[in-house]
Amino acid sequence: MAVKILMVCLGNICRSPLAEGILQTKLDPKVFFVDSAGTADYHLGKKPDYRSIEVARKHGIDIARQRCRQFSAHDFNDFDYIFTMDKSNYRNVISLGQNENEVNKVKLLLNEIELDIKEVPDPYYDTQNGFEHVFQLIDKACEVIAVNLND
Ligand code: 4NP
Repeated sequence: MAVKILMVCLGNICRSPLAEGILQTKLDPKVFFVDSAGTADYHLGKKPDYRSIEVARKHGIDIARQRCRQFSAHDFNDFDYIFTMDKSNYRNVISLGQNENEVNKVKLLLNEIELDIKEVPDPYYDTQNGFEHVFQLIDKACEVIAVNLND
């Protein structure tokens, strides 16, 4: 059975779709299933933000077929690892956890790497440059996650 990893942000249109697409490129799809979700329901069923689609495309990754969905407590059953983009997402996700096992599945993405910042900034009100910065942060963390998962 595949190892399942869920990437979570607020809207599931900017950061977590990038995290899903980036981590997928680093893992064997026969062994790993990667998905993403948002804690909010603002954009359900929508494609990722055009700026995330563009920055991913620039780096050779197609995320345009993804569609927004909301995180649900069922995801604790379905996924082995849940990575959140910022502390607010982290708190929102663990608040739905029913037990220690579920809560322990949830990590802050940037805790995987040594950095001064611990949160992937919300780029929604930023420019395309902000999306490039977000891409680089997520890519570094996903590289470490992929190496650890492949060990
Ligand atoms: P995300 O960014 O959490 O990285 O998908 C956001 C997307 C939409 C909104 C906020 C953040 N919004 O307020 O609609």
